[in-house]
Amino acid sequence: MAAAADAARAAQLREEIARLDHHYYVLDQPLVPDAEYDRLYQELAALEALHPELIAPDSPTQRVAGAPAAQFQPLRHAVPMLSIRTETDHSEGGAVNFDQRVRRQLELDADAPAVEYLAELKFDGLAVNLRYEQGRLVSAATRGDGETGEDITANVRTLRGIPLRLHGTAGDVLEVRGEVLLYRADFERLNARMRGAGEKEFVNPRNAAAGSLRQLNAAVTAQRPLKFFAYGLGEVSGWALPPTQAGVLEALSACGLPVCAEHRLCRGAAELAQFHAEVGARRAALPFDIDGVVYKVNQIALQQRLGYVTREPRWAVAHKYPPQEAVTRVLDIEVQVGRTGAVTPVARLAPVFVGGATVTNATLHNEDEIRRKDVKIGDWVSVRRAGDVIPEVVATLTHRRDGSERAFIMPEQCPVCGSAVVRSADEAVARCTGGLFCPAQRKQALLHFASRRAMDIEGLGDKLVEQLVDAAVVATPADIYKLGLLALANLERMAEKSAANVLAAIAASRHTTLARFIYALGIRNVGETTAKDLARHFGKLDALMDADAERLQQVPDVGPVVAQSIAQFFGEPHNREVVEQLRAAGVQWEEHEPSALPGPGPLAGKTFVLTGTLPNLERERAKALIEAAGGKVSGSVSKKTHYVVAGADAGSKLAKAQELALHVLDEAGLLALLGVQETK
Ligand code: IVH
Repeated sequence: MAAAADAARAAQLREEIARLDHHYYVLDQPLVPDAEYDRLYQELAALEALHPELIAPDSPTQRVAGAPAAQFQPLRHAVPMLSIRTETDHSEGGAVNFDQRVRRQLELDADAPAVEYLAELKFDGLAVNLRYEQGRLVSAATRGDGETGEDITANVRTLRGIPLRLHGTAGDVLEVRGEVLLYRADFERLNARMRGAGEKEFVNPRNAAAGSLRQLNAAVTAQRPLKFFAYGLGEVSGWALPPTQAGVLEALSACGLPVCAEHRLCRGAAELAQFHAEVGARRAALPFDIDGVVYKVNQIALQQRLGYVTREPRWAVAHKYPPQEAVTRVLDIEVQVGRTGAVTPVARLAPVFVGGATVTNATLHNEDEIRRKDVKIGDWVSVRRAGDVIPEVVATLTHRRDGSERAFIMPEQCPVCGSAVVRSADEAVARCTGGLFCPAQRKQALLHFASRRAMDIEGLGDKLVEQLVDAAVVATPADIYKLGLLALANLERMAEKSAANVLAAIAASRHTTLARFIYALGIRNVGETTAKDLARHFGKLDALMDADAERLQQVPDVGPVVAQSIAQFFGEPHNREVVEQLRAAGVQWEEHEPSALPGPGPLAGKTFVLTGTLPNLERERAKALIEAAGGKVSGSVSKKTHYVVAGADAGSKLAKAQELALHVLDEAGLLALLGVQETK
């Protein structure tokens, strides 16, 4: 028999772990470091091992329990899971249609006040029903045919964002409906893992979420970072039903359930359309996929008056966005030569409307990618375009093959200049060896040179560069500064006025900064940030040009690969000549003395991220101390971060650090590392 003290301690641990889970998974505000969480969990597990009678069904140790099932059991829904009417008019008309229907059915006059709605996201995941009895999770089911779903209780219990026990008084029966989904970043990580294990990858986050949830072995589900958002109710008894949908979401959140914060009360069609447009514009930036927004009449009393038609409520509608994925055919696979000579295969597609635009090309990245996705010329493929990203082939519908498909072969010669195409063993991309002899590379290099973040020459775009290179008027960036009105105005489709504008932009670009100039040179592996670091560090172009690889690596964030690219670039007499010509053409910037070399310092090469409020040290003071010891302070947490220093109210950065299993320090830990003792 368990001693009373052990039983009490076990109950206390269960509650504390549930509280930590809620903060971590639902509120996104971790309270303690992982190590502390693990310690509590281990203590509970040890107590339960000692006294098995203490194991409660809602113990966090029981999230994964029981043997894998042979098949899913059917589970009949107490209240059917309905579907929702879809408004296919992607413009604001969708909102207007819905509002008009609602007003007509409620028999509202034209001058009656606007109807109040709650606008939510339409999550692109899987609908599930969670059943709580006396506040405890007793079962979970998929939607199935709406009448009967599959019993996925064991799987759903492994989702740590779903409370096994509700907070507060949760009534006799409370059925919660919502969506299970995967964040895109988690989906990418999962696919990388599948790839590493030689297993088949998932096509999109929705399929991955479905595949992860519908696992006969719930231990597999437990490994997948599935998320849940609650948005509605099923059977309810002995629970005070709020009078509005907004109130329902609030009440669910108060019960400890995750509710997405992206919802808005709207009055009338115009505000609905506004929400639709705003969310649509941010769609690609959301961490998960949505396929539209959902409008719900906010007052539950009005919902009841409106009722249902067949299996759809009259009080709700899904207002969709144009699909981000569509199916089309690969007409051909060609290659494109980029600025650094990268030879990229591109699928030429039968035109298809996706992500709000007609797409005719999609990148295939490289040969390995083509092999992995098994894309052949003539194949049917699904294509994805989200936001501003380049359209991409997601998957091949191999079942639609008829045998006429042809494999892609990487050309051995550059299709533009005829130079050899080679692929080094450590790279995924093949490259044209033509360098600036290759017109394709030359055009891209010039475009990069003139681009907004480089020399910022407005008007020197695609078409103009194409003509200038083809007419052999411009070969190197220095030639740009030799252009005259005559040469430009002689080009096809170039009016004298626009020629004068381009010349003015060229003239203005002569005054620049060292950082822009370095970036504009288009040195491989030197992006905007590195260019800024180099400019700050060396102060003078000559100092940079004469630095060897070892000297270059003293610049923060410059490793052997980047150092090698820079040294190689300036080792090329041709590149030095172009730089001299540019200087001779009057391109200029301010210079300063090179910054003193930092001594190696005890924290040299270590990257820190500071988050939250430290008890004594001001943020700036902590930063200065780290930098004085040779360390670097960065604003965002990544795999490359060495230490995260967390204080009070640390938020998502700490969560990320824990997810990546990074070293997390408190103030005392940081001071110990610095070998300082400092008090305020
Ligand atoms: S409410 C009676 N709200 O859309 C209305 N559904 O419903 C019941 N869905 O497969 C649904 N986001 O998975 C509702 N915020 C949201 C939703 C949502 C996604 C899905 C749900 C179901 C489909 C039709």
